[in-house]
Amino acid sequence: MRTYRIATIPGDGIGKEVVPAGRRVLEAIAAGSPNFRFDFEDFDWGGDYYRKHGVMMPADGLDALRGKDAILFGSAGDPHIPDHVTLWGLRLKICQGFDQYANVRPTRILPGIDAPLKRCAPKDLDWVIVRENSEGEYSGVGGRAHQGHPIEVATDVSIMTRAGVERILRFAFRLAQSRPRKRLTVITKSNAQRHAMVMWDEIALQVSKEFPDVKCDKELVDAATARMVNRPATLDTIVATNLHADILSDLAAALAGSLGIAPTANLDPERRYPSMFEPIHGSAFDIMGKGLANPVGTFWSAVMMLEHLGERSAARQLMEAIERVTANPALHTGDLGGKATTAEVTEAVCAMLASNAAANSQAA
Ligand code: IPM
Ligand code: MG
Repeated sequence: MRTYRIATIPGDGIGKEVVPAGRRVLEAIAAGSPNFRFDFEDFDWGGDYYRKHGVMMPADGLDALRGKDAILFGSAGDPHIPDHVTLWGLRLKICQGFDQYANVRPTRILPGIDAPLKRCAPKDLDWVIVRENSEGEYSGVGGRAHQGHPIEVATDVSIMTRAGVERILRFAFRLAQSRPRKRLTVITKSNAQRHAMVMWDEIALQVSKEFPDVKCDKELVDAATARMVNRPATLDTIVATNLHADILSDLAAALAGSLGIAPTANLDPERRYPSMFEPIHGSAFDIMGKGLANPVGTFWSAVMMLEHLGERSAARQLMEAIERVTANPALHTGDLGGKATTAEVTEAVCAMLASNAAANSQAA
């Protein structure tokens, strides 16, 4: 039997509720499988840790994670600490430290979810957004001078390297190739950004030659927002820079019914380091501690984690259980207009997994 070593980092706000829920569901799936189990280690990093120690995570934090098979992350964000401190001190430190350069964000309208696009059938919206996760607008390069004086200046420089662009585009083409429609839309803004985005387009054209079976098109990021709303079925796999994909993925999640459902994987495709899985939503301080958070984004992220670990059948079982739960409006949390609690949704998914496991062992 295989043991996967998983780090859990609940972080802040509702992360402290949804990560334990995710762990419960992963334990339930492992209980039904003769092939693998989990060895979890929890890390109390985030806003509270910052108040005690002045940093979001310890200086040797990455070393504590290095030997893990995967990381399940909640969210980082605290109303009393500036957002750029919480972000750069924890989540980006892990993403960049472990060169998790491919951020993958699937979006679908799950059964039972009332999505806002009335002209679109649920099957018309089935996308995966691939976000460049290591450079671009989030490279952290820039600075401030003359602080506090009238001539104050500040820069945030977007850095794009040929190696960085090539690897994310190649990853996106491969992903598009593995999906039934074999379709990739490359998001750009090379009309206005005439250096890096032009290089991005050129590299997209070069890499596309390696994937003759993938239908590839190019869309400006502003036009892409309109296309997502008006012609969702024309999109399948989408690749974009760090900031463009950040924005498009919130739109995608909202169009699929709720930010509370959307998952993310921060992948090191070369598997030199552990990859990190997290719901796309933030720390949601307005509802924290009340047991109202939607755990589905974390559960779907756990599905992505199982896929990454190579546990395809467990991933499928968990996704089926999630979809049977979303199909039942009595199990919808507040973000979906329902009254269910985090615990009720979690227990429903676990019960579904247990009944599947019982059915399977009877069949065997
Ligand atoms: C996301 C989030 C983060 C980002 C925030 C929390 C800084 O919006 O994962 O999409 O912009 O990367
Ligand atoms: Mg975002």
